[in-house]
Amino acid sequence: MNMESRARGFFTEVYGGEPKVYRAPGRVNLIGEHTDYNDGYVLPTPIDRHVYVAAKPRSDDRFRVYAADFRESKEFPVGGTKLDPDRPWSNYVQGVVEALREEGHSLKGADMAVTGDVPLGAGLSSSAAMLMATLRALQDMNGLELDPVEAAYLGRRAENEFVGVQCGIMDHFVACLGEHGRALFIDCRTNEHRLIDMQPTHRVVIVNTMMRRELAGSAYNERREQCLEAVRIISKHDPEVKALRDVSPEMLVEQWDKLPAVIQQRARHVVTENQRVLDAVGLLEAGDAEGFGDLMYDSHESLRYDYEVSCEELDALVDATMDMDEVVGARMTGAGFGGCTVNLVEEGYVGEFTEKIKERYLRATAKQAEVYLA
Ligand code: GLA
Repeated sequence: MNMESRARGFFTEVYGGEPKVYRAPGRVNLIGEHTDYNDGYVLPTPIDRHVYVAAKPRSDDRFRVYAADFRESKEFPVGGTKLDPDRPWSNYVQGVVEALREEGHSLKGADMAVTGDVPLGAGLSSSAAMLMATLRALQDMNGLELDPVEAAYLGRRAENEFVGVQCGIMDHFVACLGEHGRALFIDCRTNEHRLIDMQPTHRVVIVNTMMRRELAGSAYNERREQCLEAVRIISKHDPEVKALRDVSPEMLVEQWDKLPAVIQQRARHVVTENQRVLDAVGLLEAGDAEGFGDLMYDSHESLRYDYEVSCEELDALVDATMDMDEVVGARMTGAGFGGCTVNLVEEGYVGEFTEKIKERYLRATAKQAEVYLA
């Protein structure tokens, strides 16, 4: 049974009646990591895995939500949202309801059943998928017109303010505006964005370390803080600098000695990563997969040594591709500290790659990896 019918089935089982099904995809970021919250550039693409929300409006103001994958339910009135530490999944639904209400929209209650096949906690953005699928359902049931960029920002606000995770805009943006099989270039300051066709000669292959990552954890917020610290110091000399996005490689060299050692490393990652995204877009548009892949490896090095958000398992996966000529690039993707790598692999090599990478990962870490096609 496909996922859409499953969602429909869960709904009918729990509430009876015929729902409408809404969905939003997870994503994998091709390049541009930890740049979105620095007003920089990113290049994600949606994956063919989604969160599905089967929903039907109610005549009162109550929400009843069933999370099929956890076999848990949650009920709350429209105006009575409250963070629920015991059912964290419900906070994504509540957060969207709250954000819409704060925008002045009046909402009808609804029954909803949620399911999905985006791996959880793997850095493939199941949370943004859940937020955006919920938002799609609520928009449709209440006849709300939101422009897609506005919708992405509303999703982020729900995550930042209600759920309490300080993520950037990339995940919500690509869940709203991405298209399967195409990369989405986003300028996270101006919201300028562009879809770019990917080469049919290569496939985007995701390898999951199966190590769960705690995004809400302190390391992500600490990195954000360190980037702000760099901006504070550099802007004393150049008041035009509002974010690391404004710092060119030359400026960084000029200000280098003023920055504490760890801040130097963090800033160097962001400044060089932004440039890599711009270069990668040019190479993708020119059909240069090899050149694009080289930048993926450079990005990984920078995340590993300068930004220090990789881990043994991610490094093992990237290192394992080094002698495979058919793999043009590999890097960690998402926040880091576990999660997945993204690999650019020659079309005809995907089967062999899958076997090899699993075997090598098992040998290096005694752990079982999972492989998905984007
Ligand atoms: C997480 C966040 C994104 C982004 C990445 C790192 O996935 O949700 O906004 O910051 O980490 O690039």
